[in-house]
Amino acid sequence: MNLTINDLAVFTNGSSNKKPIVFVHGFPLDHFMWDKQVDFLSDDYYCVRYDIRGLGNSPAGDGQFTMESFVDDLESVVVDLKLNKPVLCGLSMGGYISLRALERMQDKFSAVILFDTRSEADANEGKLKRAAGIKRINAEGLAPFTKDFITNCYGEYYKQNYKTEIDKRILKSSQFDPAGVKGSLLAMLGRNDTTGYLNKINIPALVICGEQDVLTPPEVMKSMAEKINGAEFIVIKNSGHLSPVENPGDVNEAVKNFLDRI
Ligand code: MLT
Repeated sequence: MNLTINDLAVFTNGSSNKKPIVFVHGFPLDHFMWDKQVDFLSDDYYCVRYDIRGLGNSPAGDGQFTMESFVDDLESVVVDLKLNKPVLCGLSMGGYISLRALERMQDKFSAVILFDTRSEADANEGKLKRAAGIKRINAEGLAPFTKDFITNCYGEYYKQNYKTEIDKRILKSSQFDPAGVKGSLLAMLGRNDTTGYLNKINIPALVICGEQDVLTPPEVMKSMAEKINGAEFIVIKNSGHLSPVENPGDVNEAVKNFLDRI
């Protein structure tokens, strides 16, 4: 079902009587990146996805976003749909949103799955890279930025075997509102560091990383997982930064094993 909550484009699959899972996508993507997980899980779970404000079908408005406003948006979806302690599942920027949401309101969630993300805030080099990205979008339009950013997300295996899918993804993201993409860059640039909260997470946690992820590599994610009490850490083969898209078979199995246990 397609809904609008707080101006956000929200998509639900499965019965609202089942246990809810909220999926938060990465940058500069949209809810479609979770298609393979939702296909796999929606018989048994109430799967809720939304497009982060400014990306996909969620309007950019004035494009003035912060990580706090992104967490407010997530909260509005959870509250509006009356989700009872959903599992929170975020990838990369969706992981930043998830980690900050836990820091703010862990008691609203029953478990967390963190894909290809990190708890550290941007260091100086990262901040300057975001600023250069904004400058480039202003000078050249969205397409060249999107092409380079998204191409870098995929691992070699997917790049060699799924060229058409990658081209389609780049084309779609290149049609987003540039104000929304730049607003996301600013929100990520200004986000707080959630590392200090990791050892206070007391809900079941699964941490998943593509073995060829160059943006949030396995050693970074392993170190993050080690700081979360009892977290399970899984490396997905033949995958870069977008493991749910690149190797959905192994990801779905890992997610299902985790959900069956909690
Ligand atoms: C993402 O996949 O959401 C981005 O790589 C996050 C980032 O740029 O830090």
